[in-house]
Amino acid sequence: MFEQNRYMAVIFLDRDGVIQYTNETYLEILNLSREQVVGRHVLEITPHSRAYITLQTGKAKVGYEWIVNNHHTLGTALPIFEDDQVVGVFGYTVFLNIWDGKNILDEILSNLNMYKDEVHRLHSAAYRFEDIHYQSQAMTDIIVLAQQVANHPLTTVLITGESGTGKELFAHAIHNASRRCQRPFVRVNCAAIPENLLESELFGYEEGAYTGAQKGGKLGKFELADQGTIFLDEIAEVPLNMQSKLLFVLQDQVVERLGGVHPTKINVRVIAATNRDLENMVRSGSFRQDLYYRLNVVHIKIPPLRDRAEDIRLITPHIISNLSQRLNIAEREIDEQALQRLCKYSWPGNVRELENVLERSLIIAEMEGARVLSGRHLNISEDKFDFNDLSEVKSLKNMLEEYEKKLLARILKDCQFDVPGAARQLNMDPSSLYRKLRKFGICIRKEYSIN
Ligand SMILES: Nc1ncnc2c1ncn2[C@@H]1O[C@H](COP(=O)(O)OP(=O)(O)OP(=O)(O)O)[C@@H](O)[C@H]1O
Ligand SMILES: [Mg+2]
Repeated sequence: MFEQNRYMAVIFLDRDGVIQYTNETYLEILNLSREQVVGRHVLEITPHSRAYITLQTGKAKVGYEWIVNNHHTLGTALPIFEDDQVVGVFGYTVFLNIWDGKNILDEILSNLNMYKDEVHRLHSAAYRFEDIHYQSQAMTDIIVLAQQVANHPLTTVLITGESGTGKELFAHAIHNASRRCQRPFVRVNCAAIPENLLESELFGYEEGAYTGAQKGGKLGKFELADQGTIFLDEIAEVPLNMQSKLLFVLQDQVVERLGGVHPTKINVRVIAATNRDLENMVRSGSFRQDLYYRLNVVHIKIPPLRDRAEDIRLITPHIISNLSQRLNIAEREIDEQALQRLCKYSWPGNVRELENVLERSLIIAEMEGARVLSGRHLNISEDKFDFNDLSEVKSLKNMLEEYEKKLLARILKDCQFDVPGAARQLNMDPSSLYRKLRKFGICIRKEYSIN
């Protein structure tokens, strides 16, 4: 049994201190053969033998640290008695840092480092202010404000703006420009966490807080973000009862784990973001007014892309350059006509939509072998009604007709030019739809339609 054990060295001494038995492991550690060890006095082999002291004193020594041939071991020496006389010693040591044990330890350590890196990556902010491209005055003002607030590491920030305007980008940039940049940046997507889990996700729980709770409890996102920044994305989706708990944490900077008894002091900067109109929600009673005030210390309102056409001109080449690298295709310029189309479009999905449109266009241009990105590569529906086109105010009737025409053309295209199908969707009679299409000169055959 001892012979096989690679983690344990074993030795038997007789009443005179002569080694009567040792296993292979011990021989390997000593780097000696069995013949060189068995039959010799223990002090000849290991002059500092603790087993020999046990032989002399009759007292067991349990769990002492013993270094043999540079191997750290945990030793135990037990006296063997016969008629109250010590007649021998059984000694064994457990090796802490050898062979498989060492390999396993190395593996665990390397895994641990990998997970540490992963946790760091997950809890760090990727973007900086340099990654935000703009030239409009509106964005310049916002950037100045955001850079100022970055210098105040405890100030709460509320970022609002339509979907895809860069709210997350700003949250990252503020964290990275602040004194907290070396500390965690923890993003919580409040819309993605089921209501019944939100509290434990944010504040954590103690072991046994509820059935199914993880052993050892769980750290909440606030504690995880301690000394750093917590980014509460989609804050408007937090249910009312949780809003009050959130308010308490923001006011007192303490969190109490579910099932816990002691609150924990934390030091966290909160950045919250939403694309919803919080003021409206406060008015309608679906968002707590006190929480709104608590969050709304510095408010960064990112304007929609359609209100800053000059930014479209500047961002587009950057996006094309990034995408070309990512798609591993040749970088190409965009012609003026295509840029003008981009500037006129209403961009309901803002910069994210611009990225998607450009990605699709670049792939098409690459397949075509076109050197320059031009209007025909852009798959944006011009028929979406663009309020920017209304520079010249016509009569209401004319404007409505213009809108109706664009809408009908769009729906017809979406329905693959199936007029009865489109009529069903519009809840109108097919014959009236045919009449309107004729009136507006909208082509009902796919092959004749223009993009
Ligand atoms: N000014 C900008 N310069 C460069 N890239 C930008 C800019 N604004 C946004 N982007 C890019 O647009 C994409 C969308 O940005 P982000 O995810 O920050 O938007 P969001 O406002 O959080 O959107 P949502 O409300 O849908 O979550 C990202 O890829 C981001 O890098
Ligand atoms: Mg976002």
